Amino acid sequence: MKCRIDKTKCNIFLDLGKMPVANGFLNNKKNQNEYFYKLQCAFNKKLSLFQIVQFPNPKKMFNKNYPFYTSSSKFMIKHFKNFSKFIKKKYLKKNSIVLEVGSNDGTFLKNFNKKNSIGFEPSESVHKVALKEGLKSYNKFFNLKNVSKLKKYHGRVDLIFGANVFCHIPNQVDLIKSIDRMLSKEGTIIFEEPYLGSMYKKVSYDQIYDEHIYMFSLTSINKIYEKFGFELIDASHQVTHGGSMRYIIKRKSVSTKTRNLLKLINEEKKKEVDKFSACLKFKKRVIHSKKKLREKIKKILENKNKICGYGATSKSTTILNFCNINKSMIDCIFDTTNDKIGKLTPGTHIPIIDHKFFKRSGYKHVFLFAWNHKKEILKKENNKKIQWFSHLN
Ligand code: TMP
Repeated sequence: MKCRIDKTKCNIFLDLGKMPVANGFLNNKKNQNEYFYKLQCAFNKKLSLFQIVQFPNPKKMFNKNYPFYTSSSKFMIKHFKNFSKFIKKKYLKKNSIVLEVGSNDGTFLKNFNKKNSIGFEPSESVHKVALKEGLKSYNKFFNLKNVSKLKKYHGRVDLIFGANVFCHIPNQVDLIKSIDRMLSKEGTIIFEEPYLGSMYKKVSYDQIYDEHIYMFSLTSINKIYEKFGFELIDASHQVTHGGSMRYIIKRKSVSTKTRNLLKLINEEKKKEVDKFSACLKFKKRVIHSKKKLREKIKKILENKNKICGYGATSKSTTILNFCNINKSMIDCIFDTTNDKIGKLTPGTHIPIIDHKFFKRSGYKHVFLFAWNHKKEILKKENNKKIQWFSHLN
């Protein structure tokens, strides 16, 4: 499938090679009829939009086996709890209706009145958990075809929320039209997505994988939403997912842009996040990072040490495949997710082992793939003998 937000040609500037589906963990060695696509990055100058060129059909990614459960992170549970308090105070009335796009296992929606909240979740595995919690979860993609059937909600939803999900949606035009259909006149759209500026700063190129079709910035969001009668009114940096931006949007002329937003846009312009030149700088740093990482791993192995990984993240699929790291270099990856344990990593076939065995495994060199959960993981797993590393250091 190809990305189709704008008919203008994009400039392709970075090739990360042949990639499997990031969350396509394999059951066993025989089951290796793996799907690969070409992971290439491009920049749409007109929209200042960073995007990947090709990606698998979303049905290949968000299906009945989707293994990512938001509630697997205590930090995310707390993050959504605190944030929902803020939303209720600032943007909602007593009986306001809340809609979440990509509501996963209901970790966010649980904080609202069940009667007035609805979630769209195409992945059956996580949707079932939300249903068990008594939430109104639709096992469907949030798109015009599906929202058209929900007439009783048209123009009545006061908050449309998404966390690390808007950037997954190939057809942004359909997404915004669906929002328009459901949102009340004075309603608010809030979404938090991995931020292009943070990815550039950290050289966290592992943020680039099939699910992250777009890497948004304030400038690109501003340009896109203005086309549809909406307006970005505020934003704030978030530490989630290794550096995200929270975007707050309303219909045009309902509210004014905050000073904070203007300051953030200025910062973005100073760093040229809105320019193609930043893409080219990023590309150089990615290539250098790969070289450094391979050297580091080689050195550890030459000294007769063993390496394991921690956190079989979707992000790790990009690092492992792009840097050609396989099980002759990393023995296994420890993880807490039941749906991943006992499986193999996509493309590179490294076994995933229950984190319960990490402490007694005695590994001294650990590649922390879940670097965005560093604090939480080190709190429970660290000891003085372990040297944690990642492609970021
Ligand atoms: P994420 O970076 O997409 O949030 O994925 C985090 C992965 O790391 C997920 O597979 C679960 C795993 N994980 C652990 O193994 N231990 C932990 O303490 C945490 C927070 C996550």
